[in-house]
Amino acid sequence: MDKWLVLFVAVAALSSISDAYKILVIFPLPGRSHGILGVNVVNHLLQAGHEVTYITPFPVKDPHPNLQQLDVSANFDIMDENLSDVKRILNKEIDFSNPMTMFQFTIDLFTKTVEDPNVVKVFNDTNQKFDAVVAEWMFTDSYAGIATIFDCPLIWFSTIDPHWIVLSLIDESTNPAYVPDSLSSTIPPFDFKERVTGLFIQIVCSAFQYFYWDGVVEESFRNVIGPYITLRGKEIPSFYDVNYNVSLFLGNSHVSLGQPIRLPQNYIPIGGYHIETKVKPLPDDLQKLLDNAKNGLIYFSLGSNVKSKDLPDNLKYGFLKIFSELKHTVLWKFEEDLPNLPKNVHIVSWAPQPSILAHPNCILFITHGGMLSTTETVHFGKPIIGIPVFGDQFTNIERAVKRGFAIKVTLSYTMLDEFKAAIDEALSNPKYKNKAKELSAIYHDRPMPPGKELVHWVEHVIRTGGAPHLRSPALHVPFYQKYYLDLLVLIVTIILVLVLAVKLLLRVFLISKKDLKKKNQ
Ligand SMILES: *[C@@H]1O[C@H](CO)[C@@H](O)[C@H](O)[C@H]1NC(C)=O
Ligand SMILES: *[C@@H]1O[C@H](CO)[C@@H](O)[C@H](O)[C@H]1NC(C)=O
Repeated sequence: MDKWLVLFVAVAALSSISDAYKILVIFPLPGRSHGILGVNVVNHLLQAGHEVTYITPFPVKDPHPNLQQLDVSANFDIMDENLSDVKRILNKEIDFSNPMTMFQFTIDLFTKTVEDPNVVKVFNDTNQKFDAVVAEWMFTDSYAGIATIFDCPLIWFSTIDPHWIVLSLIDESTNPAYVPDSLSSTIPPFDFKERVTGLFIQIVCSAFQYFYWDGVVEESFRNVIGPYITLRGKEIPSFYDVNYNVSLFLGNSHVSLGQPIRLPQNYIPIGGYHIETKVKPLPDDLQKLLDNAKNGLIYFSLGSNVKSKDLPDNLKYGFLKIFSELKHTVLWKFEEDLPNLPKNVHIVSWAPQPSILAHPNCILFITHGGMLSTTETVHFGKPIIGIPVFGDQFTNIERAVKRGFAIKVTLSYTMLDEFKAAIDEALSNPKYKNKAKELSAIYHDRPMPPGKELVHWVEHVIRTGGAPHLRSPALHVPFYQKYYLDLLVLIVTIILVLVLAVKLLLRVFLISKKDLKKKNQ
C-alpha cells in the first residue's frame, strides 16, 4: 500500500514539475527596443507559469517571484551613445557603411555579456539546469554555445523579417531571385539588376562568413564558452555541431508586415506579441487630450534613441510653425520644455505609444520607423509619415511606402517643405488610412494571439526534446547535391566519353578505309 502511495506522490510531483520549465532568456543589446522585445518574451513565459532567468541590461524593479535577472547593464559601456546623435547624423558624420564595425561590435558584446560577473556566477554553477535557452540573434551565432553548456535546446529570436542569413541556420539560404536581403527595400518581382545585386550580396557575405568570420566565432566559442563545457566534464564540440543544432526560430514578424516567403517548419513568426492584448488606459491628461481632439490627433515621436530635443533649432521651430497652421491637435514626444507652444501642440517627455495609437482620434503617426513602431502602426491600423534615422528604419519605411500606408520624408536641414507636403497629403488622401486598416485586418486575423503562440512553441520544443522532427532535411545537404552538380558532372563526363569514343571509332574506321583504298590502288 505504502509503495503505491509513494509512487502516486512521485508521479503527481513529477507531472506538476513538468508543467513548469526553467528557461534562460538572453537579450543583451543595450537598446530600448531590444529590451522591450526581451521583457515581453519573459512576461509571456512567466504568465504561463515558467521560471525565467533573464540576461538583460534593463533589469526591472520588483521582479516577478519566478524571475531571476542577471544584470548586464555594464554592456552600455561598449555602446557608442553618439551614434544616435541627431546633429551628427544630419551632418553625415556617422558612417554606418562599414559592416566590419558592426560585426566586431556583436562579438565584443557577446564577450562582455558572457564575462559579466553576474552571468559568470550562473554559468559557473554546475548544479544550474535549464530546459531551454531563448537568445536574440543579432548578427552573430556566438550565443548558440550557451545552450551547449546546459545541454538543452536552443531557440533563436530574430528581431526582423525572416532573411537568408538566419534561415540558412535552420534550412537553407533563400533564393535572391525573389527574396529580398534583410537590409534591402526591394519588393519582388525583381528586375535584372535587382536580381544580380541580390545574388552578389549573398555570395560576398557567404564568402566573408566562410573564409573569415566563422573562424572568429569558432575561436570565441572555444575561449569564452569552452571552459564551461569542460567544467561539466564534457568535450568541447565543433562549433559547426553547435551552430546547426537550432531547435526553433521565433521571428518578430508577420506576413502582414513583410513578405510572404517560404518558411521551414521551425520558423514561427510571432510579430506583435510585445503589444498587450488589452492596451493600458491612458493617463488622465492624455485621455482628455485625445477625447477632445475633434479634428483628430497627430502623434509625433522619433523613438527612444533619437531625441527630438537635439534637433537643430530651424527644424524644431519649423515643425512647430507647420503644426500651428493645422486644425488638428498635435502630440509631440519631446524630451524637454519648449516655450511658446502653439495652442494645438502638446508635448510629453514620455508617451504610452500603444495606448495613444489605439485611440480612435489618433489619425496619423509621424515616426522614425523602428520595427516596433512599424508593428504597432499596423496593429492599430494607423497611416504614417516616416522619417528614418538609422539601421533597419530605412528598410521598414521604404517597405511601408511600397505597401501604401506611409509617406517617407528624408531627415535633413532642408526637409520642412517636404514635411509639410507629406502631412497635407496624408491628411487629405484617404488611401493611406484605408491601406493601414486593410493590413491591420490581415494582421489580426490569426488562429491564436502571437504571445500564446510563443509560449506554445517554446513548450513544444522542451516537451519534444529539442523538436528534432521539425528540422529541415535541407540543412545538411551540401551545395553540390542540392543543385545536382554531381549528376551534372556525371552527365558531362558520359557525354565527353561518348564523343571521344565516337571520334576514336571514326578515326579508326577512316584510317582502315584509307588503308583499304591504298591497298586497292
Ligand atoms: C569558475 O569555476 C572554476 C572551477 O570551479 C574556478 O576555477 C573559476 O575560478 C571560477 N570562475 C569564476 C570567475 O568564478
Ligand atoms: C543539441 O541540442 C540538444 C537539444 O535539442 C542538446 O541536448 C545538445 O546538447 C545540443 N548539442 C550541441 C553540440 O550543442
